[in-house]
Amino acid sequence: MDRIAITGGAQLNGEIPISGAKNSAIKLMAASLLTDQPLRLTNMPRLADTKFLGKLLKRLGAAVDESDGADGAETVLHVPEIMSAIAPYDLVRQMRASFNVLGPLVARTGQAKVSLPGGCTIGARPVDLHLQALEALGAKIDLHEGYVFAQAPRGLKGAEITFPFVSVGATEHALLAAVIANGVTVLHNCACEPEIADLAECLNKMGAKVEGAGTPTITITGVAKLGGATYAVIPDRIEMGTYAVAAAMAGGEVRLTNSRPGLIDALLKKIEEAGAGVTETPDGVIIKRNGSRLNAVDVETGVYPGFATDLQAQFMSLMTTAKGESRIRETIFENRFMHVPELARLGADISVSGGEAVVRGVEQLEGAEVMATDLRASVSLVIAGLVARGETVVSRIYHLDRGFERLEEKLGNCGAQVRRIHGEPDEL
Ligand code: UD1
Repeated sequence: MDRIAITGGAQLNGEIPISGAKNSAIKLMAASLLTDQPLRLTNMPRLADTKFLGKLLKRLGAAVDESDGADGAETVLHVPEIMSAIAPYDLVRQMRASFNVLGPLVARTGQAKVSLPGGCTIGARPVDLHLQALEALGAKIDLHEGYVFAQAPRGLKGAEITFPFVSVGATEHALLAAVIANGVTVLHNCACEPEIADLAECLNKMGAKVEGAGTPTITITGVAKLGGATYAVIPDRIEMGTYAVAAAMAGGEVRLTNSRPGLIDALLKKIEEAGAGVTETPDGVIIKRNGSRLNAVDVETGVYPGFATDLQAQFMSLMTTAKGESRIRETIFENRFMHVPELARLGADISVSGGEAVVRGVEQLEGAEVMATDLRASVSLVIAGLVARGETVVSRIYHLDRGFERLEEKLGNCGAQVRRIHGEPDEL
């Protein structure tokens, strides 16, 4: 397995182009199952997760063609017919979001068998809301031996669905299933994350009739058939936020491009409050910090437009060397502090009680060997390594490769001392 070694102390100066959003790309790829025409996705990130989903889609009958076009990396997905409506455990367990093929499969073919994804290191992460939504749309759902069997031989039917709480995945899943259902579906208490509006925009380009995506109420008028489309994936707000934090941590001046600062308002406000300079530009943001130590600030994660849970670990790293005490409250996932013991190995002073971590800033972190535990936690260790004295070696970086494209290159181009140590090939 590969590892990443960071020698701390270098400032970051330069430009980092932001890639297309992983969390959007994988839902857009699943949308290709809804049509027999090609779906061309541009501004695609090249990540282990997108590669992985491509593998599953091929198993279901897709031709997946990756190339570098004028608009950057692109992927053309073409599913003339569904060859198999079965998504096996060995594929779904490796990437939870592949569970989202269930809705499109049952909508298009009237039946599907998809493995339950199971829990993960950041919590139990059930899919009950996904299944309730599909049931409300008329699918008969049975659970056997770890699999969901969904049947709707006469197609799905529009319905009025109120989610009991906000879920990004369940909102997207219901949307994917309802676009070719019979009749009108109204979804209430939807997640408002930008990736949902992105998915709806792409579906509309394919011929769907979706209104209100990005607000709590989404109305979908089912159409008989969707066609192909060309669609550019939204910039990755989590990648942008991660590099904004990295720049504030290491000091220097970094320009993040090919992005939209409005997507991470909540984070940028906190970075500014901590004492770093934030200047918005037409295609991104410049983060600047010279000399002085940052101040501790408190954050609480929340649904969009609140502070993203996917940026919590990175922000905690930033606070490990800030002046004073920062309270970081996690409200979305039950067990999302796996990075705390690893940050402690680098000399951070953090205590956790329930859903809250208290970070008492120290003057200096010390390099050490640490282990990545999940995708966002792993990058928080790299960020800490940027300022730790000596060398930090992060192992199990297959987590990192799931969601960060060319991380060493992007940071290295700005002056960071980051290198990959190649080990045995990772299993995908
Ligand atoms: C998505 C993102 C993830 C991000 C999260 C919150 C993808 C691939 N992942 O995850 O990076 O951290 O949104 O912004 O897009 N829940 C249930 N039952 C359900 C569904 C969810 O109890 O059926 C719970 C979850 O366990 C969690 C909370 O609801 O505690 C929110 O989860 P959700 O918004 O669904 O997150 P994901 O879609 O899994």
